Amino acid sequence: MQRLLIKGKNKINGTINISGSKNASLPILAASILTKKLVLKNIPLVKDIFTMTDLLRFIGIKCQISKKKNLIKINNLKKNLNTVAPYKLVKTMRAGILVLGPLLAKFGKAKISLPGGCAIGSRPVDLHLMALKKLGARIKIKNGYIIAKSPGNLRGTNITFPKISVGATENAILAAFCAEGITTLNNCAIEPEVKDLIKFLNKIGGKIKFKNRKIIIVGTKKILNTSYKIMFDRIELGTYIIAAGICGKKIKFPNVDANLIKTEIKTLKKTGINISFDKNNLFVEGCEKLKKLNIKTEPYPGFPTDLQAQIMVLMTQAKGISKIKENIFENRFMHVSELKRMGAKINIRNNVATIEGPTNLSGAEVMATDLRASVSLVLAGLIAENRTIINRIYHLDRGYFSLEKKLKNCKANIKRI
Ligand code: UD1
Repeated sequence: MQRLLIKGKNKINGTINISGSKNASLPILAASILTKKLVLKNIPLVKDIFTMTDLLRFIGIKCQISKKKNLIKINNLKKNLNTVAPYKLVKTMRAGILVLGPLLAKFGKAKISLPGGCAIGSRPVDLHLMALKKLGARIKIKNGYIIAKSPGNLRGTNITFPKISVGATENAILAAFCAEGITTLNNCAIEPEVKDLIKFLNKIGGKIKFKNRKIIIVGTKKILNTSYKIMFDRIELGTYIIAAGICGKKIKFPNVDANLIKTEIKTLKKTGINISFDKNNLFVEGCEKLKKLNIKTEPYPGFPTDLQAQIMVLMTQAKGISKIKENIFENRFMHVSELKRMGAKINIRNNVATIEGPTNLSGAEVMATDLRASVSLVLAGLIAENRTIINRIYHLDRGYFSLEKKLKNCKANIKRI
């Protein structure tokens, strides 16, 4: 089993190129079920993407991956696809549920394994199913599978989500894309990745508009072939900005859109980290005397839950008592016990973490539990004294492309063993 070995206390310095967004790529790959031929560029070739292409191949779609060019060519010319997503492909990656909407829309049926819970919470799919039922699907759960059927075409309707969900919004958009008539979705997730999906769907012939949290989809049957460049990964960017903030001299991030991470920038600037821009480049300079911070995680444009574990590491270095209220997932503090083993002073009460700093972290052998928790341990390892060994880094490989290489290029002492 592979592990990461980090020798801490090296200042990092240089340029980090941010990869394409995993969370934008996954729904767009699911959307390929609706299309015939596509070229998807700027795909981060991480484990979740390979799981999604395995799922698409299982369904009957040809996916040709170019590792050199970070692109995937999709060829979906078979008339009849396999409308099943098996447990083995959905259990490791919950985004597998995103093929439900497009399969149902195109073939009127789908059988998708229920994804089940994961380390960060129970993660139900009731909102996905509610939206599809409103569009006309009949759904039952049998033997761990969602069995969905639509007697005729799906029909446009008015749907209001009782709670904001990224995945349910995406699944509903994908299902409504070729439904008859107009679908209006209210109280939607408006994460940049949802907007990237809409931009892509409009490029293949869709008629989708949005305003605030309302999305209006005029169903279409005409679908065009296209080539599309996926947006950058704002969570990967946020992660490395935090790394630069806690142990960077100066790091440059080329070709990113700072407008998409305004909340994160505003929040991090409050701690004393120096963040500046020049055209599409962002520069971050580390800060020796970080100030404490209080944050809560919220749907976009609020502070993302996917950066909660990383900013907690920063808080261990800030002077005073910092607080984090986790509002999105009920069990997303799995990294805390490992950070405490490295010397962090953190208390959890209900969904609030209280962090006392600054603390000198010391290297230890630790265990990754989920994607963002693993990367928080990497950040902790970078600032800790001596050696940190991180086990179970397959979690990290699900979502961070070339992490060691990117950090090593900036003079971090990190290697895979
Ligand atoms: C997506 C992201 C994930 C991120 C999360 C929140 C992808 C592939 N993953 O996950 O990285 O952490 O958004 O920003 O894009 N919920 C329900 N019922 C449902 C669906 C969700 O109650 O049917 C709840 C969840 O348990 C959670 C909240 O809604 O409490 C938000 O989850 P959601 O936005 O759906 O997360 P994902 O789309 O799974």
